[in-house]
Amino acid sequence: MAANSFLNLAFLSFYSVSLLLVLPFQPFAASRGRFLPNYDADNGALPLTAICSAAVTLNGYKCQEFDVTTDDGYVLSVLRIPEGRAGGGGPNRPPVLLQHGVLVDGMTWLVNPTEESLATILADNGFDVWISNVRGTRFSRRHLTLDSNNSQFWNWTWDDLVTHDLQSVIELVFQQTGQKTHYVGHSMGTLMAMVSLSEGKFDKVKSAALLCPIAYLTHITTALGVVAAKAFLGEIIATFGLAEFNLKGQAVAIFLKTLCTYPGVNCYDLLPAFTGNNCCLNASTVETFLKNEPQSTATKNLVHFAQSVRNGVLSKYDYGNATANMEHYGVSKPPVYDLSKIPHDFPIFLSYGGQDALSDVKDVRILLDILKSHDQDKMKVQYIEKYAHADFIMGVDAKDIVYNEIIEFFRTHN
Ligand SMILES: *[C@@H]1O[C@H](CO)[C@@H](O)[C@H](O)[C@H]1NC(C)=O
Ligand SMILES: *[C@@H]1O[C@H](CO)[C@@H](O)[C@H](O)[C@H]1NC(C)=O
Ligand SMILES: *[C@@H]1O[C@H](CO)[C@@H](O)[C@H](O)[C@H]1NC(C)=O
Ligand SMILES: *[C@@H]1O[C@H](CO)[C@@H](O)[C@H](O)[C@H]1NC(C)=O
Repeated sequence: MAANSFLNLAFLSFYSVSLLLVLPFQPFAASRGRFLPNYDADNGALPLTAICSAAVTLNGYKCQEFDVTTDDGYVLSVLRIPEGRAGGGGPNRPPVLLQHGVLVDGMTWLVNPTEESLATILADNGFDVWISNVRGTRFSRRHLTLDSNNSQFWNWTWDDLVTHDLQSVIELVFQQTGQKTHYVGHSMGTLMAMVSLSEGKFDKVKSAALLCPIAYLTHITTALGVVAAKAFLGEIIATFGLAEFNLKGQAVAIFLKTLCTYPGVNCYDLLPAFTGNNCCLNASTVETFLKNEPQSTATKNLVHFAQSVRNGVLSKYDYGNATANMEHYGVSKPPVYDLSKIPHDFPIFLSYGGQDALSDVKDVRILLDILKSHDQDKMKVQYIEKYAHADFIMGVDAKDIVYNEIIEFFRTHN
């Protein structure tokens, strides 16, 4: 295969293996001005300062950056937009924390024009907006003792994002504002919230909006995702070990090429089928998105997701055998997360799309069934027939359909 077409294949298909990626499917477009400059997403090449200054100078918003160190030594960058463009930031503006999904970073909240991006819309509506970037993404690749090129740096899964990253960021927001925060999660960001809630770790959060909730993954409908998760689980570990999973790296490209030759998997035709047909993306936004994403994650994290797809159970990372699990958990099987323990009176706004191939409708309904005894007045469920995974973040009409509802929900449950 010629180098060029191989690259092309790798480019097209790198999305496909990313089980929960926010995924656009119109990667060809003309460029134009945006809230975010079209930075190259090279890991570590760009300081968060650059994003912040761009936000301030180009768009008239205030922007602050914070570093927070997790209890296991990772140094995370957190971005804050403390008030709207018109200013008027009084003291007790309610904080909102935005938590992105896997293989992307906090910048996904800012790729639309300001009047269409959730982060700036919230700021303009009186909220104090905090944007997290989890470990391994370009602004959060520091550690007190480990270099990001050390495989130990990548020894984590979303269990650790729940236990360490999210807790540290929530604590930071609380320290800085003196208030409990509202929360918006997309995809993996919803999983982190639900698991935290079920484990009693969300006491400094007031309410949560869950966009494209991810908990049970047995019904994801994309051929490549299923193949990756079920058939190639062993190979993922064997090929990458405990390492960075960088979609732009050569090792991953080769791995994906193998997946694409698997019977029934056509990487060219598969793209729209993978996250579902996003109805409402602007081509320019998609281009900006592609220049900023994807971001690295830990291979171990993807293996953990693959375990959920394969086993149909939401549990901690499975070390693969009874002895190893016993060593880590004191029991032979990884402990199961029990989402029925989510406090029934915790305010939850949940929105899901009819075309979403990752947060599949059948899987969301399993989740909704578990949440059926939730206090009626503390829960609002929204179903958007035409939306797929990325529409919730980048859809041109997401403000009218979803964001206004979130704002109303937060105001009601402040
Ligand atoms: C990791 O990167 C540092 C510099 O950033 C370099 O000095 C070191 O040799 C690298 N280690 C490995 C194992 O590549
Ligand atoms: C990875 O972290 C786990 C604890 O979470 C530890 O038991 C294990 O030894 C680490 N793996 C390696 C290769 O260091
Ligand atoms: C897409 O973005 C461009 C530039 O901001 C804008 O001119 C165009 O109207 C947008 N299209 C839609 C459908 O919003
Ligand atoms: C169990 O898994 C660990 C690491 O995951 C491995 O080192 C060990 O050899 C395995 N033991 C058996 C009996 O398969």
